[in-house]
Amino acid sequence: MEKLETLRQEGIAKIEACTSTKELQDVRVLYLGKKGPIQEVMKMMKDLSPEEKPKFGQQVNEIKQLLASKIEEKKVILEEKEVNEKLINEKIDITLSGLKPNLGNLHPLIMVQQELEDLFIGLGYEIAEGPEVELDLYNFERANIPKGHPARDMQDTFYIDADRLLRTHTTAVQMRVLEEKAPSLPIKVVCPGKVYRRDDDDATHSHQFTQLEGLVVGEKIRLSDLKGTLELVAKKMFGDDKKIRFRPSYFQFTEPSVEVDVSCHICGGKGCPTCKGTGWIEILGAGMVHPNVLSMAGYDPKTASGFAFGIGMERVALLKYGIDDIRHLYANDVRFLKTFSRFE
Ligand code: DAH
Repeated sequence: MEKLETLRQEGIAKIEACTSTKELQDVRVLYLGKKGPIQEVMKMMKDLSPEEKPKFGQQVNEIKQLLASKIEEKKVILEEKEVNEKLINEKIDITLSGLKPNLGNLHPLIMVQQELEDLFIGLGYEIAEGPEVELDLYNFERANIPKGHPARDMQDTFYIDADRLLRTHTTAVQMRVLEEKAPSLPIKVVCPGKVYRRDDDDATHSHQFTQLEGLVVGEKIRLSDLKGTLELVAKKMFGDDKKIRFRPSYFQFTEPSVEVDVSCHICGGKGCPTCKGTGWIEILGAGMVHPNVLSMAGYDPKTASGFAFGIGMERVALLKYGIDDIRHLYANDVRFLKTFSRFE
């Protein structure tokens, strides 16, 4: 009986001394498992008299039950303690200021391109693209500029070989679209993309720049349709109060041809250094698609007519954002580019 009492006390003391559920589990295995002090004590049974045996057995069982319930009680306490410790250790202080990810922003040329594309998509146009390494055929021949024509000199060209070149204007895409769609009508596309010319780079020239070509062909398309469309472009890019004017010009692929000016967004037309005192700024070339261009592509110029225009996107970006040197647009200086985040 004395032995049993020590066993009981030792067991309780061991349970009390546990500081983790893991330790407690070891104690449980020791006292309630197959090998341990209780099992040891049971071996003494055989030396007892038959009258003592049941009493002894009962006592042992009581101790077992007592220890089992003590272990359960302790388990609840330890588990709670461990959860609380975990909560404290794994606490995240959400009041700390986070690390701000270094987000980029759109390049000014992309902003101009997206604005123009949005406008034209809203007017029911599709976007068309073509290769930058282009055939002489689409860049010149189909644009009514045959070999040996002096107009080729106006667009000093990077040739790859006798038939291939870096396209000098997105007008080449216009020629591809015409060929692809002929003879179906109508056509309404804009073609954004890079173009290349053998120019010496300076504040206003670059050997690579970006154009957006527009082309509409239908049954009764007139110069006034072109004017209305370009008025929308001017307003969208430079503000609702802007006016445009047409000046006669010459392109081989349009007849008549015009150069289009927009009223100066800096001085409102009074005259300032940006518009060189004239109140007007030239933004693009345009015209009615030349009958030769239509027939070479497979249209009958008697029934089909159209207008086309080509916008230099750098020029729009320089004017719109007051950038003084075209080279800024290609230098990839993050300090410069970051300043445009406010326009997004
Ligand atoms: N291709 C001309 C250039 O690069 C721009 C242009 C003028 C395009 C008149 C056109 C157009 O489609 O009709 O200078």
